[in-house]
Amino acid sequence: MTTTAEVEAPTALEATRLRRAFGAVQAVVDASLTLERGTVTALIGPNGCGKTTLMLMLAGLLRPDGGEVTIGGLDPMQDGASARARIGWMPDVLGTWDSLTCTETLVTFGRAYGASAAEASQTAYSLLQRVHLAEYAAQPARVLSRGQKQRLSLARALVHDPDVLILDEPASGLDPRSRIELRDLVRSLASEGKAVLISSHVLSELDEMVDEAVFMARGVTLGESAQAEVARAKARWRVVALPGQDVHEALSSATRDWSPVEGADSSTAVVQVADAEDAAALLGKLVRKGVRISAFGPVGSALEQAYLSLDQDRR
Ligand SMILES: Nc1ncnc2c1ncn2[C@@H]1O[C@H](COP(=O)(O)OP(=O)(O)OP(=O)(O)O)[C@@H](O)[C@H]1O
Ligand SMILES: [Mg+2]
Repeated sequence: MTTTAEVEAPTALEATRLRRAFGAVQAVVDASLTLERGTVTALIGPNGCGKTTLMLMLAGLLRPDGGEVTIGGLDPMQDGASARARIGWMPDVLGTWDSLTCTETLVTFGRAYGASAAEASQTAYSLLQRVHLAEYAAQPARVLSRGQKQRLSLARALVHDPDVLILDEPASGLDPRSRIELRDLVRSLASEGKAVLISSHVLSELDEMVDEAVFMARGVTLGESAQAEVARAKARWRVVALPGQDVHEALSSATRDWSPVEGADSSTAVVQVADAEDAAALLGKLVRKGVRISAFGPVGSALEQAYLSLDQDRR
């Protein structure tokens, strides 16, 4: 039975000042994050910055050298089984038992979490439907393509109906349709009240999927500065006028916060707007000045722009 306190507590997972070294390599130096129920959070950072190491610690699969994790108030290192029962982990590379069928894989995991045989096979059946693998239910996992294995891995992370889902690069290897399905599935899991943490390098896709973003560089989670950068990136809009039109002149007299686009002529510019309303007002002004605008909208992916402007390199 769920208590009222659990229903009301918005925080599903809280991590404070985690660190972890492997020998001389300080993989995670200082990482903190909060996952709220019903939200999807992106974990973004360059190769080797410590995302997988951090996720393993959050999932209770790797012991931190310092710092704290609580999952619904429980410490995964102290209250191992009950904390881990609340967490679903999807690794970046699925280790499947190749001889087991998809159904057997899910039933085995369900049973390991304490479900009866009947419950476990019912859950396996509905999860295989949910990840569009029903027709492979009786096939051994070794016949699955990489993308299909990813989907089986996601189903496996869901067998015990966890409150928190930690997905490491779930979109890698997925074709465009499967990515869209993944996005819809992740959103629907969040709307059921789960907290989802998702790492990915495909930032433009995360834009539409996530509510919050945590940036990480060299083992450290970047707090406010990264959030501010995302907000700034969201407010950057591109104006494109018909060839030969001078947007720059019109913008100068509108005294807006604008800049030319490198390599483009004066028919194109980027403006900083406060919000959509502000953008609409600016568009009205430009049109009244007689500029013939052919396109006006946010500049690409806000997460991608924020990521690039943070300028954190690989290690
Ligand atoms: N088991 C391990 N033993 C030794 N070093 C490790 C181990 N796991 C990770 N590291 C090192 O820790 C650092 C962080 O690795 P991690 O896998 O967490 O990065 P990541 O952000 O997930 O990278 P990617 O985007 O490539 O998946 C790297 O320098 C890596 O070489
Ligand atoms: Mg990784």
